[in-house]
Amino acid sequence: MTHPDRRTFISHAFGAGALFAATPANAMTPGRVLLPPKGHGAVLDEAYWGLVKESFPLSPGLVLMNAANLCPSPFVVQEAVFEWTRDVDADASFQNRAKFSSLQEASREAVARHIGADPEEIALTRNTSEGNNTVVSGLELTAGDEVLLWDQNHPTNSTSWDERASVEGFEVRRISTPPASESPGELIDAFQDAITNRTKALAFSHVSNATGVRIPAAELCGLARSRGILTLLDGAQSCGALNIDVHEIGCDFYTASSHKWLMGPKEAGILYVRAETIDRLRASDVGVGWSRALEGGARKYESLGQRDDACVAAIEKTVVFHERIGADVIEARLLEITRALKAGLRERIPTVEFHTPMGDETSSGVMVFRVPGADMSAAYQTLYSEHRVGGAGRGGEFDGIRLSPHIYNTLADVDYAIDAIAEVTA
Ligand SMILES: Cc1ncc(COP(=O)(O)O)c(C=O)c1O
Repeated sequence: MTHPDRRTFISHAFGAGALFAATPANAMTPGRVLLPPKGHGAVLDEAYWGLVKESFPLSPGLVLMNAANLCPSPFVVQEAVFEWTRDVDADASFQNRAKFSSLQEASREAVARHIGADPEEIALTRNTSEGNNTVVSGLELTAGDEVLLWDQNHPTNSTSWDERASVEGFEVRRISTPPASESPGELIDAFQDAITNRTKALAFSHVSNATGVRIPAAELCGLARSRGILTLLDGAQSCGALNIDVHEIGCDFYTASSHKWLMGPKEAGILYVRAETIDRLRASDVGVGWSRALEGGARKYESLGQRDDACVAAIEKTVVFHERIGADVIEARLLEITRALKAGLRERIPTVEFHTPMGDETSSGVMVFRVPGADMSAAYQTLYSEHRVGGAGRGGEFDGIRLSPHIYNTLADVDYAIDAIAEVTA
């Protein structure tokens, strides 16, 4: 088995002016940072995606398919974080750090642009977990009310509700969906059938981290809205992977992490709160400048004390990187590469079972599979230790291996991973 393309660090940056312009001095080391050409209008062949791969500081020979958990940042983001961190450490005076106020606002505007929101509707949090918990603890709910959850929600959008309900006496009900469903209608029906007159909130993952099933969010949020139900859409597995427009989707809350599919700085996150809903969600954390925060729309949800300014500022660089390739181009590429992975595995290992739908309509970049008779836990370890394919081992109801490739993977990586999986599960 030959390893996929080794990176060669082509040194020329293609029309990189826009990204360079607003980047801290000396952040770009010539010959090290490569920006891919613009995605729109480019010939999107494997050579293109090879160049994209070279804009990430990946360890040579590593085939990383773990985006659902944590993503590397491209050089341009990594260097911005490093440089601004050095800058703060060199001079932590108020005067030197004053610039971070406008950089933070630039990040807010960039995020708003990226997900189709207004800047006033965006709080820059630390991760999806924090955003989810802000919503769970901030809504007014009393005994007799009911909250509906997808049974595939992440604990921060599941156990968190149970905790609060145990104190305040409202009811939490969970909805199961048919396994690996290829039908958006079937998924919607499962939720629709469970709604009652007592349902006040509906909270679900856009894409399940457990199975990769994608819920038709716009349809479901529209349905909830028509019944006066608030919706929390957990976008940890969709933000940066799918082309998101929260206004079109119509959710009340959308949460995400910068360090997953967005490939941004670590420990940064997004909480979107629809303008009309801000008055209905209390903030859990109150800090310095509170009265000003109260007038700042969703800014009231980011009273989090001293932040890592470098990290918050670098979110803008992250969005610009996405825009360079194109959110729609990234979405299409993820579907293409995950399709190739699923089809290749099915062809190579006929007994393979997927927890993930095969079709694009109800799946995205997350794929979970098992091979009956194989020790999947051992296979997951060997896949990394002997073949350097980084995925995630999964236990429980949806056991197996989760692979979540991203734009830094090529089709050569996919072929390599399929060969490796066939070997470790044989
Ligand atoms: C659906 C979902 N929600 C929330 C989270 C929590 O993300 P974070 O640890 O970045 O807060 C995850 C993490 O995998 C997730 O998959």
